[in-house]
Amino acid sequence: MIIGIIGSGAMGAGIAQVVATAGHTVRLLDQDAEALQRAGTAIQASLHKLAEKGKLTSATAEAIFANLHFTQAVADFADCELVLEAIVEDLAVKQQLFREVELIVSANCTLASNTSSLSIASIAAACQRPGRFIGIHFFNPAPIMQLVEVIPAVQTRAGLAEEVRDLVQGWGKLPVLTKDTPGFIVNRVARPFYGEAIRILEEGIADMATIDWAVTELGGFRMGPFALMDFIGHDVNYRVTESVFASFFYDPRFKPSFTQKRLFEAGYYGRKSGRGFYDYAAGAVLPEPSRDEILGRAVLHRVVAMLINEAVDALALNVASKEDLELAMTKGVNYPKGLLAWADEWGPANVLTTLDDLYNEYREDRYRASPLLRRVVRNNQYFLQHEPATSQQ
Ligand SMILES: NC(=O)c1ccc[n+]([C@@H]2O[C@H](COP(=O)([O-])OP(=O)(O)OC[C@H]3O[C@@H](n4cnc5c(N)ncnc54)[C@H](O)[C@@H]3O)[C@@H](O)[C@H]2O)c1
Repeated sequence: MIIGIIGSGAMGAGIAQVVATAGHTVRLLDQDAEALQRAGTAIQASLHKLAEKGKLTSATAEAIFANLHFTQAVADFADCELVLEAIVEDLAVKQQLFREVELIVSANCTLASNTSSLSIASIAAACQRPGRFIGIHFFNPAPIMQLVEVIPAVQTRAGLAEEVRDLVQGWGKLPVLTKDTPGFIVNRVARPFYGEAIRILEEGIADMATIDWAVTELGGFRMGPFALMDFIGHDVNYRVTESVFASFFYDPRFKPSFTQKRLFEAGYYGRKSGRGFYDYAAGAVLPEPSRDEILGRAVLHRVVAMLINEAVDALALNVASKEDLELAMTKGVNYPKGLLAWADEWGPANVLTTLDDLYNEYREDRYRASPLLRRVVRNNQYFLQHEPATSQQ
């Protein structure tokens, strides 16, 4: 199969490596010749590293690299069966790109976007044949992260999502199917990991070192929310939060925080700028957590209850299947457990009580429990342990 990839930045280069490794011929296009050159160097370095670690032979690494063809001309895409874009996150620019691509490719070439925050329907709308359009959303770095969200738009022809899912699986990835709703699965369900942690900090319930400690040491997450936001960068993380909030018609559940906005405005982006929530300057001393276990458990319960509620609500609205929701959160963001499994383990009634207590205390919509959680508790059910949790209402 011949695959065209447009945009050779962080994502495009990574995706090109994945696809070339799977044995496809890849045409990698960028408008910027230097970006193409950088991508070639980065892919070569990455393959070289894998060969050094013994994961590939040098001959295989060379063969993979030989599958890649670098170009600046859309005309070279005439023989592509799939064209996937990973260019700048701008709807008008993406739409214009696909108008040009459609003039070149054959009628049965599939078109795809790696967008994180735009709707697939809005990009597909620019196409002459929107039925062939779909979202294929990788995570960064694409060669390492296993999860790929496959997102059919309202225009996507029946059957294409399943074909793309099988194709992506053949690339050695774990595809999940999700609806074309803001944030898809991962960027929607993960919002409270950041938002609720910041809220707990803002109220002075616990300091950030203690919150990070509670979530990692007591909760088993790989990184605490503050360390993770500093790692991702507040420019990126704040923008995603803002975009998800706006895309949900300003549902207060997704409201960004002033605390993070101020860091963003100040240019305190996190590790990359030397300062975020924490100070990364040479010689700076990181704050110590209180290690108060009772406080830590209260913090953890609040954050996890909010995450579970988001996952349950995504299930209630058929954003994805139970299996795909669990896969997305364990493989996409490395959560220690799937959130539905966590709900079952903790007991859906306990999760609901935690949320209802918060709601009664604050009277804010962000703490409203999903109707599905309430129904599962009312019917004495579980999400995964006793199938089906949703059919007996
Ligand atoms: N960075 C991430 O963590 C991440 C994760 C998942 C999805 N995404 C999405 O992937 C896309 C790319 O993100 P990125 O981080 O790789 O960006 P990037 O800035 O690293 O790379 C974008 C590349 O696209 C090129 N480009 C821009 N407009 C173009 C055009 N009209 N024609 C050809 N080339 C063009 C640029 O020269 C640049 O090399 C975005 O839609 C983003 O939302 C990003």
